[in-house]
Amino acid sequence: MTTLLAGHLLHVPRDPFVDRSKRSEASGTRDRWVIADPDALHAVHDGAVAIVSGTIRATGALHELRDRFPDATVDRTGGWIVPGFVDGHVHYPQLPVMGAMGLTLMDWLRERTFPHEARFADATFAAREARAFLTALARNGTTAAMVFGAHFAPAMEAFFAEAAASGLRISAGLTLGDRELPDAMRTDPARAIAESGALIARWHGRGRLRYAVTPRFAVSASDALLAACGELLADHDDLWFTTHLNEMPAEIAYVRDAFPAARDYLDVYDAHGLVGPRSVFAHDVHPSDRELQRLSEARAVVCHCAGSNQFVGSGLFPLRRHLDHGVRVMLGSDVGGGPSFHLLAEARTAYQAQMLQGT
Ligand code: GUN
Ligand code: ZN
Repeated sequence: MTTLLAGHLLHVPRDPFVDRSKRSEASGTRDRWVIADPDALHAVHDGAVAIVSGTIRATGALHELRDRFPDATVDRTGGWIVPGFVDGHVHYPQLPVMGAMGLTLMDWLRERTFPHEARFADATFAAREARAFLTALARNGTTAAMVFGAHFAPAMEAFFAEAAASGLRISAGLTLGDRELPDAMRTDPARAIAESGALIARWHGRGRLRYAVTPRFAVSASDALLAACGELLADHDDLWFTTHLNEMPAEIAYVRDAFPAARDYLDVYDAHGLVGPRSVFAHDVHPSDRELQRLSEARAVVCHCAGSNQFVGSGLFPLRRHLDHGVRVMLGSDVGGGPSFHLLAEARTAYQAQMLQGT
């Protein structure tokens, strides 16, 4: 059974930043990245997507696809047809925290976020929230996400079961911390390895699911806990890693005091083998040049969450500096720090953040 879904196709099949240096040479000036490669945006008016037994087989002009698939049914509902969005950073246990105004990061975490996340000790509640969360992703056009998990293993078991049923491509993991958290949310290195290991064995690589080792951030992790994260990565193939990095000055100052031997915030993670091509660092609003250099060399990914940066007042993301260092950058909603699941809203906010900086 073949369907041609007709409408206006819009997608970005290649990296719009890639041609930047070439174009700069040609014009003799430094191009603004926002207009770096307008041809990277590919639009087909009166286009279509050919779906054969539930799988996309072709995209292109409607009249061409009609010739190729003469027996297809044409769905003329219309509208814009875009690829599923990829959310690089979004918190499953923070749905009702969205829109909690008036506080910057550390107070927002203590007063609004941790009390709600403590409720995920109840696995029945967690399963209900997981369903609502995954439905919200799909409703907003997100088909793949790196999801920050809950601090409770049964809540993650419930989450992975719901994610498997959802058909979405999800990477996620048990969130880990052993200090600066409410008691019920703390773990220890041995327990972190045992509980994460059991979830990895059950869910990593199953269908569209992947496991991501997830210390919350350096503020809530001891060196011993980060070493346990490094052990997990070393002991299993193809795991992902995600955490927060350089989000706010008060947080960065805390990390500097807590890890006096580290060169900078990134170095705290690097000391335990946590910086590599499958590592996704949320935020990085206030990086040093050394950190950008190291992120680039390690081919690590920075997830820019513009809506969250503005909502909790973290600052303006230095995209230009990331691109100049060759750091891979993606977008994330950071719900509930971010106020919207919608990646197009996120992209617009990201654009505005760059315009405000004149970059
Ligand atoms: N840093 C540590 N935890 C969090 C969180 O839940 N949200 C954001 N935005 N930053 C964090
Ligand atoms: Zn976050």
